[in-house]
Amino acid sequence: MTKIDILLGLQWGDEGKGKIVDALTPDYDIITRFQGGPNAGHTLEFNDKKFILHTIPSGIFHPGKINIIGNGVVLDPEVFKKEINMLSSENSELTSKLIISSKAHLILPTHRILDAAYEKAKGKLKIGSTLKGISPAYTDKASRNGVRVADILKDNFREIYNSNTERHLAMLAGYDLEFNLSEFEEGWFEGIELLKQFKIANTEYLLNDSLNEGKKILAEGAQGTLLDIDFGSYPYVTSSNTISAGACSGMGVSPKAIGEIFGIFKSYCTRVGSGPFPTEQDNDLGQKLRDQGVEYGSTTGRPRRCGWLDIPALKYSCMINGVTRLFMTKADVLSGFEKIQICTSYNIDGKNTDVFSFDDDKNIEPVYTEVDGWQENISACKHYNELPQALKSYIRTIEEATGLPIDIVSVGPDREETLFRT
Ligand code: IMP
Repeated sequence: MTKIDILLGLQWGDEGKGKIVDALTPDYDIITRFQGGPNAGHTLEFNDKKFILHTIPSGIFHPGKINIIGNGVVLDPEVFKKEINMLSSENSELTSKLIISSKAHLILPTHRILDAAYEKAKGKLKIGSTLKGISPAYTDKASRNGVRVADILKDNFREIYNSNTERHLAMLAGYDLEFNLSEFEEGWFEGIELLKQFKIANTEYLLNDSLNEGKKILAEGAQGTLLDIDFGSYPYVTSSNTISAGACSGMGVSPKAIGEIFGIFKSYCTRVGSGPFPTEQDNDLGQKLRDQGVEYGSTTGRPRRCGWLDIPALKYSCMINGVTRLFMTKADVLSGFEKIQICTSYNIDGKNTDVFSFDDDKNIEPVYTEVDGWQENISACKHYNELPQALKSYIRTIEEATGLPIDIVSVGPDREETLFRT
């Protein structure tokens, strides 16, 4: 029996998971998403083309590989339809390569409207949601009101849809928000018809059978550890378990089936939406990171908050996930900084600690170690050995702090700009 490897984000999302999953896919037979939904935006670039995937796993561009949307995902049929249309020009065999869990939950048009209503009502305390309907869809799942992908095949699907929509409209009556439901519904129902053309299955059987047959599976996380509903900076989090434990429940596999846990992080930090961010640089340095890293949300276009690498946060994420190997992305973005700061601990109310804290009410000051930067453009480097000494020393510092090897260094957005060390 083979094991499933998991790849997940160690920061606040946008670590470059899509690009690395795409680069690793040749080594796997099956790629599976296990949580989140269209709040994700996984960007892939190759052959001078750029693609952004929201729901479909990032292995989809490789011929002969199976891609699964697992039970832990929340799926918006309209977004799914747009993605399939976008992919159709590149992929001829989509219906044979993509399988959807019958247990995945649907995001209804009214979930998107509710998301907007909740955010508006929160005023200054808003989460900064992507407004894709994620939280209301997971709320319905937990309250046992959700609509699942398997429901679309039932004769009474329209009744199921109507009764849920009516329930949501009654809830919306308590909120101050104008909306036009019919604008959302047309594309959504077209998406439902498209979904029916794909294989809808109990993917937990498929995955476990595949392991027994010796197939290699990669689980693709979405968002990041610091946005996890339990271990992230609650309430400024997403509504699913983004951590490695979430992969088991989001796919229907035992913890015994897990092999490597690949933790991916950016060489600096970014965050979209509200919530604590100890190393944030709300200044010219942050703007330089944003400009060089093109740090704008791939799903919402919002400017991302930028700051220095936070080692206590990284260690926390490695601990929660049981990370076995690290992958570092966007090393090229740090080129051109004379000095680089690394946060190694915090000073909280006069005490030094490396315990990661999300407390908004405490005065958390990052304690930085300053290291030399490098000036070279590294995107053309083809081997790890070609990287500047200062970057290698930056990598060593992180390896020593986390006790984990950094096996991949990404030096640009293209598939080719990926340096494997092993
Ligand atoms: P929601 O998941 O859309 O409800 O958003 C909750 C929080 O998670 C917000 O701060 C979002 O900006 C953030 N978020 C959700 N998905 C992503 C993602 O894929 N990348 C980065 N941030 C995300």
